[in-house]
Amino acid sequence: IYEAKIDSLMNLMTLEEKIGQTVMYGGGWAKTGPFVNTDFEKYIREGNVGAMLNVYTAKATRDLQKIAVENTRLGIPLLFGYDVIHGHRTIFPINLALSGSWDPELVELTSRIAAEEASAEGLHWTFAPMLDIARDPRWGRISEGAGEDVYLTNVLAKSYVKGFQGYDLSKNNTILACAKHFVGYGAAQAGRDYHTVSMGEDELRNVYLPPFKAAVDAGVETFMTAFNELNGVPATGNKFIFRDILRNEWDFKGFVVSDYTAINELIPHGFAKDSIDAARLAMLAGIDMDMMGHVYRKNLKKLIEDGAISEDLVNEPCRKILSAKFKLGLFDDPYRYSDEKRQQEIIYKPEFLKTARDAAAASSVLLKNDGNALPLEKSATVALIGPLAKDEYHINGNWGGAGDRKGKSVSIYEGLQEYLKEHGILYAKGCDLEKDDESGFQEAIDAAKKADVVLLVMGESYHMSGEAASRTDIRIPGIQPKLIKKIREAVPNKKIVMLLMNGRPLDLSEEIEQVDAVLEAWYPGTMGGSGVADVLFGVYNPSAKLTVTFPRNVGQIPIYYNMKNTGRPIPESNPKQDYKSNYIDSPNTPLFVFGHGLSYTSFKYSDLTLSSAHIGFNDTLTATVSITNTGNYDGHEVVQLYIHDKVGSITRPVKELKGFQKIFLKKGETKIVRFKLSAEDLKFYNNKMEFVAEAGEFEIAIAPSSDFKFKHLFTLE
Ligand code: IFM
Repeated sequence: IYEAKIDSLMNLMTLEEKIGQTVMYGGGWAKTGPFVNTDFEKYIREGNVGAMLNVYTAKATRDLQKIAVENTRLGIPLLFGYDVIHGHRTIFPINLALSGSWDPELVELTSRIAAEEASAEGLHWTFAPMLDIARDPRWGRISEGAGEDVYLTNVLAKSYVKGFQGYDLSKNNTILACAKHFVGYGAAQAGRDYHTVSMGEDELRNVYLPPFKAAVDAGVETFMTAFNELNGVPATGNKFIFRDILRNEWDFKGFVVSDYTAINELIPHGFAKDSIDAARLAMLAGIDMDMMGHVYRKNLKKLIEDGAISEDLVNEPCRKILSAKFKLGLFDDPYRYSDEKRQQEIIYKPEFLKTARDAAAASSVLLKNDGNALPLEKSATVALIGPLAKDEYHINGNWGGAGDRKGKSVSIYEGLQEYLKEHGILYAKGCDLEKDDESGFQEAIDAAKKADVVLLVMGESYHMSGEAASRTDIRIPGIQPKLIKKIREAVPNKKIVMLLMNGRPLDLSEEIEQVDAVLEAWYPGTMGGSGVADVLFGVYNPSAKLTVTFPRNVGQIPIYYNMKNTGRPIPESNPKQDYKSNYIDSPNTPLFVFGHGLSYTSFKYSDLTLSSAHIGFNDTLTATVSITNTGNYDGHEVVQLYIHDKVGSITRPVKELKGFQKIFLKKGETKIVRFKLSAEDLKFYNNKMEFVAEAGEFEIAIAPSSDFKFKHLFTLE
């Protein structure tokens, strides 16, 4: 609908101005807020900048927008982009945690709130959601996605896009979403960030691409390239993924931004010989905007003048970027997002903080709870021990947006204060996150001896996950494990609860033996202390379930629930049998499976029935199960539907999630849960890369986690 306007604007634009639209520069931060180096101002004044990175607040964006709109020849407004990943000011649990809520509406709501706050601070565009399937906990960025499963990530991709972009982009509280990183980034070899990715097209199409397709179907406006190469061609210069798949197959109409200097990186990848070549290759691949690389700014004009690329290759991104600006209403009012009054009113609204508290509770996974160590009694004296117990800095996690890390976030200590009287908390830090200093051990041991129950708050520093934060050792860092052992020795009969904050699955094999209960809180965000305390005291009955497998040891990685069977699967009766697919020094099974998460109550699954034992390609199968809350608390349960396609033209995983429902049951209550399944749900890319369902036998189960044995079958005929 803006085509005519874009045509007339582009008729007026010089080649330099068109190239300018493909250029993104970055601001920085001063202590008191963001500032922009004046170099950028020069380029903005010349009309040679399309977008700015890392500039926010109503004032900072208004100041720069004023230059673009009032001091340039054509007055084209700038786009302001920022990493609003799990909240802008009000920070929600990290994305991996949030996915564990299995609650698409909650994910949409948190993204909506993030968009409300970000848009009030002048931002038009977030670099989220990250849709990289990740099956390697060594990779620090596993914290930013929805875990290892394709189906769940597809569902949440839609929630994120709807949350950020709303249902009408012309409203000034909606922002452009960005599906990233296209594609394969989560499969970096050995979990090392930016590392090589090599995979067959079946895995690419069946595992890594679907969440991005889901985002396109949900109307996502932008894409970001990945840093990795894919089968020998760096993603940022990869025509196959951007032109053939994204544009031609999926009909994506929005624009693609490179990741930060990823076009320049085509050179060290060994794909481009110099920066001119890099600009040419990225243009040919269909990368519309150069984030921070200066490669397009410096080289596109010459490439066109030399006839190496056609001017149409620049017209295309320019048109798409202008189109996004029209959609956001920036040509009607370039300052509509930069409103200081709105900023004042919106950020950290009480209702946003309430959602953050609920999200923290709904994302905390109860991994173990022997002897009902949790919930805690309000009358108890709790020894609160650990380097993260009073922390309000790490609690927001990596990519913490513009959330204040000091003064705004609620620590676990503060969360507990709401429930326990002052003398009910015996606090001792015990040790640091990473330093080797044991001088605080004795104080912690003394506190443990005096208390009724011990609550350890431990984990990783937030810098240990996120970008460029890969680990080869995924155990709890530093001397924290040693402190746990010492405390267990000192109070052998006392209940010890471990509360974890971390950005990846950890190897907890040793610690799990030392403690009675483990609550995985990940990084729970601004209201983390309150939300987690609600779980600890039973005000919220934990319902989150893992969306990523916890290995027993780093050697099992990659380990995920929907693996293939191999030709020599281990027999159940003898998992250690020789010449079977196993290890000689470790079981194949993980410590905690995908979908695992305990509740303070218990649920009984019974009477799985199928509407038919056979379905045709146009039929629908209804699978029904009865679920009863058999325990003493009301609570939510995440009910999971899995299938196994027994024989395929390419082999199929041993289990595949195909549906889930989160239900609420009062104690004693029974509900019937129904799932519908059709041939569409059974499709995959076959050996000819056609998206089809194949006739044959399927196993089916409805279960509380991925740890079950199939007992039911149906056929597709
Ligand atoms: O959005 C991020 C991306 O995920 C990693 N590199 C930097 C970008 C912009 O901050």
